Amino acid sequence: EKGGYEHFMLKEIFEQPRSILDSMRGRLELEAGHLNMGGIRAYERKFVNAERIIIVACGTSWHAGLVAEYLIEDLARIPVEVEYASEFRYRNPIITERDIVLAISQSGETADTLAAIELAKSKGATIFGICNVVGSSIARATDAGAYTHAGPEIGVASTKAFTAQVTVLTLLAMIVGHKRGTLTDSKLRELMVELSNIPAKVEKALLLNTEIEQISEIFRDVPNFLYLGRGYNFPVALEGALKLKEISYIHAEGYPAAEMKHGPIALIDENMPVVVIATKDSSYEKVVSNIQEVKARKGRIIAVVTEGDTVIPPMAEFVIEVPATSEVLMPLVSVIPLQLLSYHIAVLRGCNVDQPRNLAKSVTVE
Ligand code: F6R
Repeated sequence: EKGGYEHFMLKEIFEQPRSILDSMRGRLELEAGHLNMGGIRAYERKFVNAERIIIVACGTSWHAGLVAEYLIEDLARIPVEVEYASEFRYRNPIITERDIVLAISQSGETADTLAAIELAKSKGATIFGICNVVGSSIARATDAGAYTHAGPEIGVASTKAFTAQVTVLTLLAMIVGHKRGTLTDSKLRELMVELSNIPAKVEKALLLNTEIEQISEIFRDVPNFLYLGRGYNFPVALEGALKLKEISYIHAEGYPAAEMKHGPIALIDENMPVVVIATKDSSYEKVVSNIQEVKARKGRIIAVVTEGDTVIPPMAEFVIEVPATSEVLMPLVSVIPLQLLSYHIAVLRGCNVDQPRNLAKSVTVE
């Protein structure tokens, strides 16, 4: 049932070109030139007039929520707050009937996320769910929603569910942005074309597998890792670090690259591997400066760059090239090598990647 792969996690990583396509199916109609999302139709006015969107989630789904904050603010110009469900529910949050709460959950059973939804509902907010498991508790508790259609995810570490969540959230931001007039026809068209190219780009990123396995050999025994990114790649840095921690048991931290000098830079010496996601986007020059800062302290740089980059390779010990895409879609591509890196390091360390210690696929207790 692992389809010839050694682990479910690897199978699910490799399924992503297909699962991303499935999450867009019937929603992105390139030829007809329109986007549909059944779940928001009845709530379209509500989304268009929303004063604020609050996203509640946990773990990897919370990282997808962070990507959505960038997407929705950028494309639809609606203020977004991204909340850990467990913090939100217990801090007497301010919620009104004018708020839309987006709940993101692969399993649809996460206790804290479900409780956050119930709380927001009791205050009259509109609740929109983005779940993978059909008919799950969260899917049933929401007013409306969109399934991610990634198919069953068995590996405890979430991979294809994350990229499916980001895909659905991208479509949502595009639809709402277009309706609000903050996303022009031509920009919408451009993003639709680029989004439809993502499965092929993910396929291409998966060809990095052997190269990443080799890099993993070098770092299999290190005790720490740092992951840095800015803008759309900041949540990707957090996600890369979480993947490594949970399956390889190596301590890893994700940081916005510019925050490094406010603390974590003290950790950097010749033994510290630093994964920098440095694709060509609006913060590229700034990230290059951050790489120089790491290099000046002899940190070991593993850089994820856009194909053809000639500036960063001389500064890095290892370079991982991913296909270029629109800045707003890059997380769907740049997360792939990080998933593979955590997978191979965990396998080399003899860890049980599909069922890491102390973790459960659905966290149904708080
Ligand atoms: C990480 C992981 C967890 C889940 C979190 C939320 O790989 O699997 O961090 O993302 O427990 O789970 P869902 O999305 O089912 O609500």
